[in-house]
Amino acid sequence: MKINKIAILTSGGDAPGMNAVIYSAYLACIEHKIELVGVAGGYGGLIDNKFVTIDYDLLDGHINDGGSAIKSGRSPKFVEKKYFDKAIKNLKVQGINHLIVIGGDGSFNGAIALSKTGLNVITVPATIDNDLNFTHTLGYDSATNQIVYAYDNIMDSLSSFDYGAVIKIMGNHCPDLLENVARSIHTDYKILNNDADLDKLANRIKKNFKLGRPYPVILLLEKCLDCEEVANILTEKCKKPIRPHTLGYIQRGGRPSAFDRAYGYEAGYSAINSILNGESGISIGMNNNVLVKISFAEALSKH
Ligand code: F6P
Repeated sequence: MKINKIAILTSGGDAPGMNAVIYSAYLACIEHKIELVGVAGGYGGLIDNKFVTIDYDLLDGHINDGGSAIKSGRSPKFVEKKYFDKAIKNLKVQGINHLIVIGGDGSFNGAIALSKTGLNVITVPATIDNDLNFTHTLGYDSATNQIVYAYDNIMDSLSSFDYGAVIKIMGNHCPDLLENVARSIHTDYKILNNDADLDKLANRIKKNFKLGRPYPVILLLEKCLDCEEVANILTEKCKKPIRPHTLGYIQRGGRPSAFDRAYGYEAGYSAINSILNGESGISIGMNNNVLVKISFAEALSKH
């Protein structure tokens, strides 16, 4: 059966590379004379009937930007039956039987619920958290680079003043982003849970002062201890100023890395071709530099 229309949405925290997926899906659709429709603002856009035509004018200037050109969103309402049913009705009225969902674990759960109604859904794992079952989710590499750039800037002051720093790293409860940054900046000072022993950490830092490691950089995982509090405690224990840094959206924003651009382009193109091959209920993501297709359940089985 000829497919005339495919919808695409971005959901949850934006991740660099989302626009590359949309762009390559758009190019593949042009090739096959299919209309690609964007859902503005994630699942909330399905509920509120916010569909936008995707064309070059919409994407122009955004293709290699971070964020989402069609807007992302979090929609707690989507799990409520009356809103979910409204979303399904809106899709039917639009004549849409195929949907591409670009997002993280919450978005994948939404995709599973939609699939159960008979809608053909394909997902692309996009989250800086890397908390899905791929070696790399889209945006994880870019976020790592953004944090490393920020670290370089912070280091200029640390080395000039002989200070230390606590840097709070996003990732929700998943330590992958923090661990990747730790490897890149070569630090083994990591706080990954609320029970972290700050006395032990301070002793290690002080011991390393004597060995010629003067500017301690401590990475603190989001959703555990308070950054300012940790910095104050370590300042007192180490007898050296250790300054708190919460980078926030600096980590999630900015232009995608070369890796994430290539990833996004390949995933978008593959999503359209998979739809044309009659595939659905799959997630298309990167494992060890190779694009793979796995089930939603497998994608969600990381933790
Ligand atoms: O999922 C990406 C992420 O940036 C997480 O690391 C973080 O916990 C969350 O989103 C923050 O969400 P928001 O920006 O909506 O507050």
